[in-house]
Amino acid sequence: MFQKFNSSILMAFMTLFFSCEVSEKSSEESKSVGPDGWLSGTTEERLDEVAHQLGGFSRTMVEVSYRYSELYWAGQDENWRYAEHQLEHIIEAMEDGLKRRPVRAASAEDFMQESIPAMEALVEKEDKEAFLDGFKSFTTGCNACHAKEGESYILIQEPQQRTSPVRF
Ligand code: HEC
Repeated sequence: MFQKFNSSILMAFMTLFFSCEVSEKSSEESKSVGPDGWLSGTTEERLDEVAHQLGGFSRTMVEVSYRYSELYWAGQDENWRYAEHQLEHIIEAMEDGLKRRPVRAASAEDFMQESIPAMEALVEKEDKEAFLDGFKSFTTGCNACHAKEGESYILIQEPQQRTSPVRF
């Protein structure tokens, strides 16, 4: 009885010891993955590289800016489904961008809590006049955040020309 108890304790310790060893080793181990092994290093190094590849807020803004223009022309053409599509993706891009750069979240609060819901209501309303009027405040929301973030030199104005390859 005692013998059996003793050996099971020993087994438990051994399992614990080996599992610690294994997990420590696997996080240290260098690996190369992806085409031609471009993503290499320890797990942490590879995750850092992937995070870097995702980009920061500038990358987010390039996407938001494209979708902002598309949203505008969608409204001009009263293509409300396309407008809704663009707005949904603006929200998604902003949320993901703010996850990657939480330091920007405070300045984005008014835009996320006010400008976005106001625009959602306008798209839902399907009224071109109201949309175009509301789009001005939406743009002000972009610039307000730029001012808070010390990026006032990036002044957004309503799109003047269509650059979209999408046929409305
Ligand atoms: C966090 C609040 C915030 C909001 C809201 C915001 N921006 Fe920005 N925007 C920034 C910051 C910060 C930068 C500079 C990013 C950098 O350089 O890392 C920027 C940069 C940009 C750039 C330059 C991107 C580049 O690098 O080429 C464009 C274009 C832009 N924003 C468009 C918009 C538009 C359009 C809206 C509204 C639909 C908007 N932004 C809303 C914070 C914001």
